[in-house]
Amino acid sequence: MALAAATLLRFGYPSCKQNAPAGRNRYCNPHTTAGNGVIVINRSSWRCRNRATASREATAAAGRRRDKRDVVEEEDEWPSYLTPARLDVLREMEPWVEEHVLTLLKPVEASWQPSDMLPDPAALGSDGFHAACLELRAGVAEVPDELLVCLVANMVTEEALPTYPSGLNRFEVVRDATGADPTPWARWIRGWSAEENRHGDVLNRYMHLSGRFDMREVERTVQRLIRDGMSFHGPVRSPYHGFVYLTFQERATAIAHGNTARLVGARGAGDAALARICGTVAADEKRHEAAYTRIMGKLFEVEPDAAVRAMAYMMRHRIDMPTGLINDGRHSGRDFYDRFIAIAQQAGTYTVSDYRGILEHLIGQWGVNELVSGLSGEGRRARDYLCALPNKMQRMEEKVMERAVKAKNKPTPIPINWIFDRTISVVLP
Ligand SMILES: [Fe+2]
Ligand SMILES: [Fe+2]
Repeated sequence: MALAAATLLRFGYPSCKQNAPAGRNRYCNPHTTAGNGVIVINRSSWRCRNRATASREATAAAGRRRDKRDVVEEEDEWPSYLTPARLDVLREMEPWVEEHVLTLLKPVEASWQPSDMLPDPAALGSDGFHAACLELRAGVAEVPDELLVCLVANMVTEEALPTYPSGLNRFEVVRDATGADPTPWARWIRGWSAEENRHGDVLNRYMHLSGRFDMREVERTVQRLIRDGMSFHGPVRSPYHGFVYLTFQERATAIAHGNTARLVGARGAGDAALARICGTVAADEKRHEAAYTRIMGKLFEVEPDAAVRAMAYMMRHRIDMPTGLINDGRHSGRDFYDRFIAIAQQAGTYTVSDYRGILEHLIGQWGVNELVSGLSGEGRRARDYLCALPNKMQRMEEKVMERAVKAKNKPTPIPINWIFDRTISVVLP
């Protein structure tokens, strides 16, 4: 798992060009790293950060615009997802899950392991290991601080893995009730968690060997995040809402790791080893995304009305990524997360346009705009809401961005304890 958007929009970023290499985006570009590690940003890059702020405001405004009727109907529909008939749909899907979802997990014997991508003292011997560590440290030497901070956030989110299967095990029917259930759903949860477990491991070990991080502070952040948990703005027992969230989140994670790989890699900061690690994790996330996309796609096929209403519900309440409660120990509430969003946005590892792009992608994947039969009045309203949402989000982003550009807010230097309190300058909301 990873972070995400206000998500957008909480994990979200601005409409800086998606996937643009560091330093080449016409909005985000002109920043340099001063000798003291501070990212110096000139006026033209304010536009990028202002866009970030704008997008977060736009998303928040979109959330507030729900009318009373929406709220009442949403509260009414929670129990409808937990009726025996609706839950039976998930039980009857078990043979299909066996055939179409479990097959997306890789056997342990065919899986990569963290030690495949890191210096191995047992194989290299002491001199060889020392030399390999020096090589690793030389590779990461030019990675700018803002990307290091994004890498920490990616890693911390992965390391908070204990939280995520707990969430899945709150969903009716699909949960692993005993810890060793033989159902396809339970085997998926365990297999998925086992694959995810390698992500935090490999990033953590790489960071430890690199010498560029205050690992004790990073470890304290991991402990805080697991302690504090995560926010899920849906009915906590409904698999329908849960699978919408998981699909969105896995795609967002894949994008974040993928963008990080490109930015730190040979064409960016020059660390090919780190790029390989991030790219390998991103590929796993894509496979997981495919699994959840299939599950939700099946629910759209079998129960289109319930599926489209669940998706609309989740989008109205915003998809908050698991890192929403990340904290460096110096800030309260979401204060630190807001700062992180601004940094990640500036770095280009995840953008507001990514969030909107995910929504558009899923609307297409699940054929939301083609849904006709089997929809109730609420279902039709949910479909229409979803199909109009990307354009609405874009228009709102543009409007708020225009306002933000006019305001010309000054960047704020933010000390980050993960990188020994070096500061990164960003414009904050
Ligand atoms: Fe994941
Ligand atoms: Fe992951």
